[in-house]
Amino acid sequence: MENVETAGHSAAPQGMGRTAGFPTVQPLQGFMGAAVTGLDLSKPLDDSARDAIMNALVEHHILVFPNQNLTKDEQYAYTERFGEVEGHVVRGLDGVKSPQVHMVSNLDLDGNPTKTPATSGNFFWHTDKSYHDIPSLATLLHAKQIPPKGGSTQFANIANAYDELPDVMKDRIQGLRAVHSWEANRDNTFNRPATDEEKAERPPVSHPIVRTHPDSGRKVLYVGIHTSHIEGMPVAEGRELLYRLLDFATQPRFVHTHHWREGELVMWDNRCLMHRATGDFEMDKHARVLHRTVIRGTVPY
Ligand code: OGA
Ligand code: MN
Repeated sequence: MENVETAGHSAAPQGMGRTAGFPTVQPLQGFMGAAVTGLDLSKPLDDSARDAIMNALVEHHILVFPNQNLTKDEQYAYTERFGEVEGHVVRGLDGVKSPQVHMVSNLDLDGNPTKTPATSGNFFWHTDKSYHDIPSLATLLHAKQIPPKGGSTQFANIANAYDELPDVMKDRIQGLRAVHSWEANRDNTFNRPATDEEKAERPPVSHPIVRTHPDSGRKVLYVGIHTSHIEGMPVAEGRELLYRLLDFATQPRFVHTHHWREGELVMWDNRCLMHRATGDFEMDKHARVLHRTVIRGTVPY
């Protein structure tokens, strides 16, 4: 990372000043993602910094803010600058509904690392809360404890995937809608079945398979592990097509792998990315703990 301080604005040194500062955005190596420095996110973010971050998110899809140290309240306050902070249907191991700033970890109820984390659904490609009628705009993870090796997160660029889809397939899926549900997610990720209460809270919804990103205008292949079938198509045929599209969209050329460092906060755009946890570390030996917030988006079209 060279010239990080020369992108037009002289960034306030981290940790100084009364506001968060102004971001300096430096593209990561590879085809997407950017590092954002010059900010102390525990401090109030002014409107110009907020807008610069939002523009960078639309351009780069994944923003990595190194060396942050936010309390849960500070993470909430930062997240709220971009929209409504979502609640979660998912329950922790204790059966209690997760608070708005919750923990993604591989710890069991006694705080010990385990190979069977409550968030095992994250090992499958998905885009957050696509089982909502209004899915998430962005997700923020703040790394509190990262294993010495591995524990990365992968991102698939579903706008690039759409662009590269052969025309015959583009024609075939234009106008089709996939049904997404929490129940399908539990089943597709080999999890315990959804409870009646969860199903009542999150009944199935449908979204266009070809979605338009509201800010960039690009078309994206909006699929993932929360889908069950395609509206108006025999269930088995729809599922087969959805899995083939998922397979296509997650080819290595569309995928960026993020290797975490403690203290990083990563913010990504769910409207043009799928993602998954890899679990590529000794899950029963090391703790991996991230604090998570999610911003509500808009109805897909
Ligand atoms: C999430 C998620 C992946 C990971 O928090 O939405 O899918 O690597 N996390 O923890
Ligand atoms: Mn997720």
